[in-house]
Amino acid sequence: MSNATTAADPGTIMPATARVGVEIVGVGSALPEGVLTNNDLSAYMDTSDEWITQRTGIRQRRYCDPDKGEGVLSLGRTAMRRALEDAGLDPSELDLLILASVTGETRCPSTSCKIAAELGAVNAGAFDLMAACSGFVYSMNIASALIRTGEHRTIGVIGCDVMSNIVDIADRNNVVLFGDAAGAAVFRATDDTSKGIIASQMCADGRGWADLHLPYAERDMPEGADLCDIRYGRLQMRGREVFKFAVSTFPRLIESTCVQAGIGVDDVALFISHQSNLRILDASRERLGIPEEKLYVNIQDYGNSSAGSVPLCLDEARAKGLYHAGDLVMFVAFGGGLTWTSSLWRV
Ligand code: UT7
Repeated sequence: MSNATTAADPGTIMPATARVGVEIVGVGSALPEGVLTNNDLSAYMDTSDEWITQRTGIRQRRYCDPDKGEGVLSLGRTAMRRALEDAGLDPSELDLLILASVTGETRCPSTSCKIAAELGAVNAGAFDLMAACSGFVYSMNIASALIRTGEHRTIGVIGCDVMSNIVDIADRNNVVLFGDAAGAAVFRATDDTSKGIIASQMCADGRGWADLHLPYAERDMPEGADLCDIRYGRLQMRGREVFKFAVSTFPRLIESTCVQAGIGVDDVALFISHQSNLRILDASRERLGIPEEKLYVNIQDYGNSSAGSVPLCLDEARAKGLYHAGDLVMFVAFGGGLTWTSSLWRV
């Protein structure tokens, strides 16, 4: 097993990137109170608990209630506050805050600016990042790289999507899949250079954009599309195409990230993946011979919460003690764009 961050021999000049380790010092998550079960859905549309469970593994999902003040702002803020408490840090110690989301409440200001203000993160730069379901893993790669330059010390990353704002409640193809959630992590520079990312990838192929997109007007639609039943401001998804993309990309992504790090798939203690569909997760896991207990799954309870799903899994996996200091943990995600990404950590 090779580790790109092992200490160099005395006397050698190390690149700046090797002099700083990066540690995940705190994690947290937040969920709306409202639960929408498969039976709730089948009460008003032509679907069933059996169909949804068999095709997706999902039994229920969480939905925000705007009348209770639930939304990206409140969920994201709560998740980050919990991550900071977990880290034992004051919000003023953050020097950057990144919110990964495609459902941010405003474009200007970015929702991260509002969250920073509400948290009292007075010393933090803040921006939103859009990479759909890949957003949190993209952001953790960026946070790690910024810390390794030495220019940042403590970065908070939130992954949060309120998919209930953008799914078409009348479209049974996609309404069954999605839910709302937020998760967050605080990344910090450490002198322990064994900790941090040892391999990562951030990939995109915009030629597949129409497989999963959010149109606001006719100009946002693919050429020749049937516009009759389109509801603008609602997610459009070619489910089978996304399924095929995910099922082929997921194993390749894991394998190539392991090759990049010079490790075997067996060396990874835990895989934390975007929760898209249980069939996608199972098929990929079986293809790589990964034992069930090494791939964290919570899709049955929350559905696909886009950028919220990976940090929500991270928070639950950490609470359950599923990884320990020194373990290799791989984060993977794929989604709209099309995008896909990995981040292999020595934690
Ligand atoms: O983060 C990435 C986000 N997106 C994804 O991960 C989505 C990936 N794709 C999928 O998860 C699956 O393609 C779906 C769950 C969306 C659909 O499952 P499928 O096995 O690909 O079903 P299908 O689209 O091939 O449809 C099979 C049948 C169709 O009926 P006919 O034409 O065979 O009579 C659909 O009309 O199932 C029907 N159907 C439903 N039936 C009951 C589609 N949606 C539903 C539904 N309830 N909710």
